[in-house]
This record gives sequence, C-alpha cells and structure tokens, in this order.
Amino acid sequence: MPKKAIVTGGAGFIGSHMVDHLLKKGFRVAVIDNLKTGKRENISAKAKFYKQDITNLKSILNIFKKEKPDYVFHFAAQLDLRFSVDNPWQDAKENIIGGINIIEASRRIKLKKFIFSSTGGAIYGGAWKIPTPETYRPHPLSPYGVSKLSFEEYLHCYRHMRQNSLDSVSLRYANVYGPRQDSRGEAGVIAIFARKFLAGKQPIIFGDGKNTRDFVYVSDVVDANWRALMSKNPRHKIFNIGTGKETSINQIFQKLKKLTASQFKPKHGPAKAGEERRSVLACARARQELKWKPKIDLDTGLAMTVDWFR
Ligand SMILES: NC(=O)c1ccc[n+]([C@@H]2O[C@H](COP(=O)([O-])OP(=O)(O)OC[C@H]3O[C@@H](n4cnc5c(N)ncnc54)[C@H](O)[C@@H]3O)[C@@H](O)[C@H]2O)c1
Repeated sequence: MPKKAIVTGGAGFIGSHMVDHLLKKGFRVAVIDNLKTGKRENISAKAKFYKQDITNLKSILNIFKKEKPDYVFHFAAQLDLRFSVDNPWQDAKENIIGGINIIEASRRIKLKKFIFSSTGGAIYGGAWKIPTPETYRPHPLSPYGVSKLSFEEYLHCYRHMRQNSLDSVSLRYANVYGPRQDSRGEAGVIAIFARKFLAGKQPIIFGDGKNTRDFVYVSDVVDANWRALMSKNPRHKIFNIGTGKETSINQIFQKLKKLTASQFKPKHGPAKAGEERRSVLACARARQELKWKPKIDLDTGLAMTVDWFR
C-alpha cells in the first residue's frame, strides 16, 4: 500500500514542491488549501485537492477521517509579517487555532509524523548570536514569530501527552526562494527583484541594502522535509534549515542585475520598520542528525529562479 500524506498549504510555493516530491516517491497526496495565496495550477493533477480553510475544524476532521494520512506536512499559514503586526488576532487564528485543528485531527488517526514549517528568521528576532543556532533562546519581534514559536510549543506538548501523543518535527527555515514564489513570502525580495528586472522596471532597495539574509533554495527545503520524515528518532525535534551564509540585499540586486543583463543602478527607498539587520542560521544540527545539507549554491539557485520567471 502506498503511504499517504496530507500537505496543508500544498497550493503554495514550498508546499507545492513538496507535493511533487512526495508523488515522485510514490506517495498518495491530499492537499488542503484555501487558495488565499496559493494557486490551483501549482497543484499536481495527481494529488487530491480540498479547498478548505484550516480554521474550519469540522471540515478538517472530516478530511482526516476520510484520508487517514500517515504523514502531515503543515505549510498553510498566515505568513505576512507586516500583516501580523496590524492583525495579530487573524495571525493567531490561522497559525495557532488553525494549526491546533490540524494537530487534533492528526491525533484522532494513527499519524506517523507531523512535520511543521516554522521560521528561523522571525522566531529569533534580532539575535545577537550570528549565525544563530537552535539553542539560542527565541524572542520574536512580531506576532507572526510568536505564533510560529507558540505552535512549536504545542507540538512539544502534544509529543509528551500521555494519550495519543504525536510525533513531530519543526523545521525553522531561513529565507526560501525559487520557482513559484510570489512576491509576498518572507524571501520575497528575490521574486520581486527578478520580476522587476525582467519586466524592465527599477527595483527599489529599502534602506541601505546592507541588511543580510540567509537564502536557501526550495529543493533543499523539500529535501529537509523528506529527511525529517525518513529520520527514525532524531534526538532533537527542532532544526534550522538554511545555508549559514549571509548575503546582503545589495548583493542580491547585483547578482540578479547581471543574470537579467539589466542596466538599472541601485535605487534606495526608506527602510522598513521592524526588519532585522542580520539574519543567518547555524545548521550543524540538521547536518548531523538529518544528514541534510544544502546542495544548491546561491548563484545556481538564482539562475534557475530567473529562468523560471522568464
Ligand atoms: N517562504 C519563506 O521564505 C518561508 C520562510 C520561513 C517559513 N516559511 C513557512 O513555510 C510555509 C509555506 O510558505 P510559502 O512561502 O510556501 O508560502 P505560500 O503563501 O506560498 O504558501 C502558503 C499556502 O497556505 C495556504 N493557506 C494560507 N492560509 C490558509 C488557511 N487558513 N487555510 C488553508 N490554507 C491556507 C495559502 O493559500 C498557500 O497556498 C509557511 O508556513 C511559512 O510560514 C516560509
């Protein structure tokens, strides 16, 4: 019997790549997505699709009862950091209450593992330790970071509950980029700049552009999810998933300018409030326990991304 997986947020950027990978590995896959930011055309025709919001407990319970998945990959989320600042209620409703719905539905069936897409950037806040390891005590600086961290704690708690405990792994991603990304994600800068350059429009760098991020290619993130599924009993349950390399927004501008053979000079706008100056993840734990390491370097990943946008 083929293994079954439910992928929430499977119409989105990272989730849809995960769906493709699982199908390639012979899994039967069902997607739950409300298509808020996801697109129907991202979902493989071989996957079953439920257009549903994760905040609707009754429907979620029914889907799980029907599908009885072995594994859950939980990607669906409100992931707009700035939106969460103005709408903390909605952020908590989707990322915490919606997430609990998925946990509770999972507990009612014999789920083998729950794999959660968390965030390294927003959870660690303005970390003073760079690159930041999992042992750094997170103090998120946005409601989005708080809701993601709090959901990790729910998973921790459900792992240790006496009845129907749930095995889970949380993956804290750096800034993910690649094909199918739209301009709203946490790593939207690559998608935004690539689109602008290709359309012959001037990209704007907010602030001085010296702020740095850790950019990880989407297929490497899918590979981390796959290894989290395959790993028998990892000692730790939380893993940073990034490259450990810092790249400034100015460098991204220059690399994309070259790849698109554009003539634009850097143009700066006002800095965005509340954004970290430096963000880069230490990923030794994933290397040791999941045997994971990123395979796609930034120049190769950017070239593939530009080709896709083209
Ligand atoms: N992209 C990044 O750089 C990044 C970094 C860190 C963490 N993450 C996490 O990875 C996950 C996937 O992010 P992405 O970049 O693919 O974003 P995305 O917006 O492309 O995907 C999210 C998907 O979830 C769906 N969705 C949103 N709210 C929903 C709800 N209430 N009910 C049902 N479906 C809902 C959307 O329609 C979309 O298809 C998110 O949990 C995000 O927090 C992403």
